[in-house]
Formats: sequence, C-alpha cells, structure tokens
Amino acid sequence: MNDLLEFKKISKSFPGVLALNEVSFTVRRGEVTALVGENGAGKSTLLKILNGDYRHDSGQYLIDHEEKNFANPREAINAGISVIYQERQVIPYLSVAENIFMEDIPSGKLGMVNFRELNARAQEIINEFGLPFRASSRVRDLSVAYQQMVEIMKAYRRRPSIIAFDEPTASLSDAEIDSLFEIIRRLKTEMIILYVSHRMKEIFKITDQVVILKDGRFIRQEATAKIGEDEIIRSMVGRDLGGIFHSLSRNASIGGVVFSVENLRAPNVKDVSFSVRAGEIVGFAGLVGAGRTETMRAVFGADQKEGGTVKLFDRELQIRFPEDAIASGIALCPEDRKEQGIFSIRSVRDNISVVMLRSLVKKGFIDQRAELGLAEEGVRQLTIRTPSVYKTMGELSGGNQQKTIFARWIATRPKLLILDEPTKGIDVGSKFEIYQIICDLAKQGMGIIFISSELPEILGLCDRIIVMCQGRITGELAREEATDHKVLTLAMADMLGGKGT
Ligand SMILES: Nc1ncnc2c1ncn2[C@@H]1O[C@H](COP(=O)(O)OP(=O)(O)OP(=O)(O)O)[C@@H](O)[C@H]1O
Ligand SMILES: [Mg+2]
Repeated sequence: MNDLLEFKKISKSFPGVLALNEVSFTVRRGEVTALVGENGAGKSTLLKILNGDYRHDSGQYLIDHEEKNFANPREAINAGISVIYQERQVIPYLSVAENIFMEDIPSGKLGMVNFRELNARAQEIINEFGLPFRASSRVRDLSVAYQQMVEIMKAYRRRPSIIAFDEPTASLSDAEIDSLFEIIRRLKTEMIILYVSHRMKEIFKITDQVVILKDGRFIRQEATAKIGEDEIIRSMVGRDLGGIFHSLSRNASIGGVVFSVENLRAPNVKDVSFSVRAGEIVGFAGLVGAGRTETMRAVFGADQKEGGTVKLFDRELQIRFPEDAIASGIALCPEDRKEQGIFSIRSVRDNISVVMLRSLVKKGFIDQRAELGLAEEGVRQLTIRTPSVYKTMGELSGGNQQKTIFARWIATRPKLLILDEPTKGIDVGSKFEIYQIICDLAKQGMGIIFISSELPEILGLCDRIIVMCQGRITGELAREEATDHKVLTLAMADMLGGKGT
C-alpha cells in the first residue's frame, strides 16, 4: 500500500507545445483527487508520464518519498500503477476475460491457457461490478459503455496501489456511473486515486480534493467541500460563466419543416416518426440505450433501415450509405469518435476536409488552398488548440479531437446537422462556445438534432425535446414546458410498465 504520490516541478514539452510547466502537487491515499482543467490543459499528459508512456523533460515524481522514473508502461504496472485512458484500449476481438487478464493469462499444464479458470475469475469481477454480460463475450459485441467497464475492470483486477481514471464516465449511463462510484468509494482506503473529469456533478459527488491545471500550469489545490463549482470554473477558464444558457443568442425565427422521418424501423428503433424545422434545435433525450443513436445511424445510412421513410424538404430520400446522406445535405457527428471518426495519424487538416474532398476537386486535383482554408476556418471557429492544422490528430488532447470532428461536419454546410453527444469530453468553457455555434448555425436556417445525456444542456439549448425509451418516442415537450422531471418520466415511461405516466 502506498500513501503518497508527489509531483515536483514536472515539465513536458511537445514540438510547439509546453504541455506541462513545472507542475507540483501531492495526492494522498484515502482521498479521491480530481484533476481538472480545460481541453489541452495537460491532464492526460501527466497521467501518461505516471504510466511510463511519456518521459518528463524535468522535475520528478515520487511515491512514498521515493523518486520513480518509469521507462515504459510495464514498469509502471509492476510498481502498482493503473491508468485508465481516455481512449479505450481494449482489444475488440478478444473476450472480456482475455482483456481483463491481458497481461497474465492463467495457464495450466504445458503452458496452455486455462480458459475455464480465466473465465471464472473474470466472471467474479464482472459480478462484483454488477454487470450483465459474460466473461466469454467478445468485447466487440459489447456497447461502448460496457467496453469502458471492461477497461476499468482490467485496471482494478491488478489491485494497484495507484489508480488514475481519465474521463471514465464519458460513455457510461447513470446506473453504471453509480456502480463505478461505489467501487471507487470502496477502493479509496486501499489506494491513491486520481480522477480526471469535465463533469462538475461527478467531481462534487466522488472527489475529496481538486487540483486545477491551466495551460500546463498548476493553479491551485483545494478540498472539494471548500470550493464551489463557480470557483472551480473560474480558476479553470479564467472567467465567469454564470447563467450560460441565458446569455446565448438564440434563433428567434423557426421556419418550415426541413426534415422528417416516418415510421422508421431498425434494430432498437421501433416506428419512430418526427420532424425538424429550419432553424430549429430539436433535442433527443433518454437514458443510454434508449435508441437515439440507433435512430440517427439508421437515418444517416450508417446502419441498415428495416422500414420507414426519410424526407428532406418533402423529397423522399433513398439513403443506403452515409455517402448518400452527405450528398443530400445530412451530417452526423458521431458519439464515439474513436470508432467512427478519427484518423489519428492524419493531420487536423485532413481530418476536417475528409468528407469534403469530392467537392474540393478542381480539374482532377484537390484545391489545396480551399482545403487549407476550410481547416483553418474550423480551427478558428471552434478554438481547436493546436499549433497548426498540419499537426497529427493523435497529438491533440481528447477534447480538441472532439472539436475537430465537429468542425468536419459543420464544414459540409448541411441542411440537417445531427449531433450525438457533441460536448462529451469538452471542457465547460468550450461547451459554451459550442452551444453558441449551434445557435448560430440554427440562425442560418440549419435544422439541428441534438442528442445528449446531460439534461441541463438539452433543457437549456433546445427549442423542442423529443424523449425516447427502449426504441420508441415516448413524448415531446416544447421548450417552455420542459422540466427535468417531465423529461425523466418520459425517459422511463416504458420501463414503468408501459403506462407512460
Ligand atoms: N503526443 C503528443 N504530441 C504532441 N502534442 C501533444 C501530444 N500529447 C499531448 N499533446 C499536447 O499537449 C497539450 C496537453 O494535452 P493533454 O492531452 O494532456 O490535455 P488534456 O488536459 O488531457 O485535455 P482534454 O481535456 O481535451 O483531454 C495539448 O496541447 C496537446 O495537443
Ligand atoms: Mg485528456
């Protein structure tokens, strides 16, 4: 058991970026420490140094007063450190058990893998977490949320003495977050815990200390109970954000119907019908698994439809693939950037222009000036933090990668823009900028579908809210009448015995 983790004047630079600038603070066992800061503040970089992925340029870190310097992740693991990354690291074609025991698969006689033991041991952990899948399931068949849970179980299984979570809840449902928090509370006395998150609610729920970073610098450390949300945000962002939804400049003139769906059917989508007007922001609320993502993927041609019609301006569309949707003027900014959006080894420019390439071709060549302009415009509009558009996408912080994907879809100037959890992993200050961009796009007459699991942003931003539960639309609320309570009641309507209270 370790008691103390100290960072002393840790610095780390990348070409053109000083990611960490003499960061010093101390973390203790028995307290969960939140690490907060804007996108690109240096949080993940610090965890990667602790995990032996990156070497720091100067400074030191000490565990129980002893200096450590891990050359690679293996050394860190052996020293009892588990870091759960922002980007999933599971191997999709292996089973849950194989992923959990990746580093030391129990072997029997002749070095053969003992699958029975492997599965039994993994199943114990799965049960402890109260999850409904089997140890022998392929990871690729699980939802993103469950894949994330596998990642957490893999780290937990090693019984580390230091565990760090980098935005672990970004794709988890409330129930899963609760079970994770229960586990964290239990672990607290046994290990040192670092917790990176952009969600203030969670920080106040689970952490005891807050460490605030800004632009790679340590700003302050406080007991969570002694610091308010506004003060954390002020220290992180450098300004006040009070009443953000009230200060949005919204679209006042909503036009005619741009887009409509009738009786759409697909896996987990049951007879869904709705429409979106020009300049209207339509929120889709519901619990994780309600069928919102599946509905939009079917609309966009990312998944196969089983029936129903999709119309843009009264014209029925035959969308079989995403290309058809894009060509018709529909854009979908996906929920899971890792799986559906990012080309990590390509530049920011390429990542923004990729779906526009066809229209950028002039006389058989890509108009590079136009391409560059498009990328620079996106970087400016979304304040993507990168020294240049030629930077490789994988070098951007998680939140900035998310913004880049958003920039890509805005660049297509669609008639209908579908945003699936667009603010996931985005810091509080940038969230506000994104809300304003969404309102500005609406003002230009774009129809917008906004899926989010965070009720305050749905209630604060949308003109109309459609609620789904178990693949069906259970209700619709106008902006003026919508409240948390009404949305949640509809979101659970089918689960409460189908009465639709
Ligand atoms: N491998 C890398 N190569 C180049 N630059 C990098 C690399 N990793 C991180 N950076 C840069 O270092 C800075 C800090 O990034 P980091 O990922 O630590 O931010 P973060 O606080 O985790 O942000 P987020 O909340 O968006 O995840 C950013 O400017 C980022 O672009
Ligand atoms: Mg990060």
